[in-house]
Amino acid sequence: MDKFVIHGGNQLHGEVEISGAKNAVVAILPATVLAETPCRIENIPNISDVFIIMDILKQLGAKVKMINRTTVEIDGSHISQPVVPYDLARKMRASCYFLGALLGRFSHAQVSMPGGCDFGVRPIDQHIKGFEALGAEISLEHGMVEAHAMELHGSQIYLDVVSVGATVNIMLAAVKAKGQTIIENAAKEPHIVDLANFLSSMGADIRGAGTDVIKINGVEHLHGVTYSIIPDQIEAGTFMAAAAATGGNIIVRNVIPKHLESISAKLIEMGVQLKEYDDAIEVISNGVLNHANIKTMPHPGFPTDMQPQMAVLLSIASGTSIITEGVWDNRFRYVDELKRMGANIQVDGKIAVIEGVDHLTGAPVKATDLRAGAALLIAGLIARGTTEIEDIQHIERGYENVDKKFSALGAEIKRIKFPESVPAAV
Ligand code: EPU
Repeated sequence: MDKFVIHGGNQLHGEVEISGAKNAVVAILPATVLAETPCRIENIPNISDVFIIMDILKQLGAKVKMINRTTVEIDGSHISQPVVPYDLARKMRASCYFLGALLGRFSHAQVSMPGGCDFGVRPIDQHIKGFEALGAEISLEHGMVEAHAMELHGSQIYLDVVSVGATVNIMLAAVKAKGQTIIENAAKEPHIVDLANFLSSMGADIRGAGTDVIKINGVEHLHGVTYSIIPDQIEAGTFMAAAAATGGNIIVRNVIPKHLESISAKLIEMGVQLKEYDDAIEVISNGVLNHANIKTMPHPGFPTDMQPQMAVLLSIASGTSIITEGVWDNRFRYVDELKRMGANIQVDGKIAVIEGVDHLTGAPVKATDLRAGAALLIAGLIARGTTEIEDIQHIERGYENVDKKFSALGAEIKRIKFPESVPAAV
């Protein structure tokens, strides 16, 4: 397994191009199985989660053809067995989107219980509640979730918790159901809107995506389309945070500034200067950061997927900051790794109290999950000395060429074969 070796201390300068959004593409690629003709999906990020979904599509019998580095053509018309096996599904959470998509197309689906980042219990009870309301029977045997219906029919579903995954899965199952489905207390994330736009361009009738009530009138046929994935708000936020932490000045290109509002507002509160353009944001920082309090919430609140990265900034900000994790039960596992680098953070349940320190120091650390890994990258960029990050496969689930993108901004970061020895100069 490779690892990243970072020599900290360089300010980031230059421009970085943001890739397509992971959490949109992992919903839209499974959704292509609903189309009767081929779909062409553009602006796909080259990340391992995308490669896994393509493998699942191929194993289902779909034709998957890369047109160029960021465009794929998917023809799911030949799929006959709606079964996603354990060996692929266990690798990622979003494999459960094949439940909704295959159920929507075949009224039958069998998918292994999903894997993904581990930050506490990740139930799918709301997905199941939605499928049942649409008329499906669900069983869980031998680690496989099986959903079956004679015919799916529209229904009114009130989600007990705001869930991105349940909202996506219910939309996928409902687009071809008979009659109207209403999802109340739906998730409002940009990737929900992107999925709705994709399905609508295929001929679906969906209203209200981006609000907490989504109405879907089932249609009989969906056709293939060419569609471009939105930019990744969290990748953009991660680079913005990294520039702010290093006291740098970068332009983050290919973004939708509106999707970044909660992150931008927090960085400004911390003393970072931002300039907004149509599809870019410039980050200007002198490295002096004010303390701040952050509470993560479903969109449009502050995104939980930026929480670990912001903890790094707050660990070198003046004074005391408090982070309250409002989405996941256990998303502070990275804190022990940051403490190894000199951060002063106390965690009690869903609250972290951070006392700013003068500087972090490089250390060997492990990425415990995707965003934890992103946080450690930023920590490595600002730390004095050398940081070695192991388990970078977590980072590569969601960040395309992250080492090359940071290098191009002036960071000293190298990917090395592990357990090979560290090169003298990195
Ligand atoms: N929940 C339930 N029951 C359910 C579903 C969710 O109780 O049936 C709870 C969860 O335990 C959690 C909360 O609801 O406390 C929110 O979970 P949600 O379903 O919204 O999360 P998800 O769909 O599993 C997606 C992203 C995550 C992101 C969350 C929250 C994808 C593939 N994943 O997960 O992204 O943290 O929404 O915004 O879209 C990441 O990119 O690093 C990542 C983990």
